[in-house]
Amino acid sequence: MYNIEDDIQEVLYSKEELQNKVQELGAQIARDYEDKQLMVVGILKGANIFTADLCRAIPGLIQMEFMVVSSYGTSAVSSGKLTILKDIAKDLTGRHILLVEDIIDTGLTLSELKKELLARGAEDVKICTLLDKPAHRKTEVQVDYVGYTVPDEFIVGYGIDYAEFYRNLPYVAVLKRSVYEK
Ligand code: IMP
Ligand code: MG
Repeated sequence: MYNIEDDIQEVLYSKEELQNKVQELGAQIARDYEDKQLMVVGILKGANIFTADLCRAIPGLIQMEFMVVSSYGTSAVSSGKLTILKDIAKDLTGRHILLVEDIIDTGLTLSELKKELLARGAEDVKICTLLDKPAHRKTEVQVDYVGYTVPDEFIVGYGIDYAEFYRNLPYVAVLKRSVYEK
């Protein structure tokens, strides 16, 4: 069977480092939302694994929801157009929402999504991302919780894909250019 590890250029954050970071973020979020009812909204598919781990690092009463939004297609370049493919079926009026993302690149996906949720009546919408890649930011978006700031490379693993593969890597890594520059 094809070994996906052969396509990795460099491991950026090991499984253990990620575990520690997630615990740290969870504790910080728990403190900040101590007196609020938090709704965690994971952005599928990329933030699936991060959201699942992060929620287990928050000891309070929280709700978990998921959305599927798309701005990339199968290409490595963002199209910038937000399409909601799976929505939250609940009324968001007065909610304290934490959007959980795998990686922020141009910022277009989350800034559009945040606007949309506020327009539906959410009391506040904060953003937590495992990875922030500021090199290609096209719009200003306030990121409230960041795991790591990463260099301008194509990143995979721990839920993050290239062409729907590599999500099952237990660590975060840089993908070899030869994989996508063909
Ligand atoms: P943006 O911030 O609107 O450009 O889009 C962020 C989304 O693009 C994330 O949810 C990721 O799914 C995807 N993305 C951005 N950079 C990378 C990367 O290096 N590897 C894999 N997906 C990425
Ligand atoms: Mg994504």
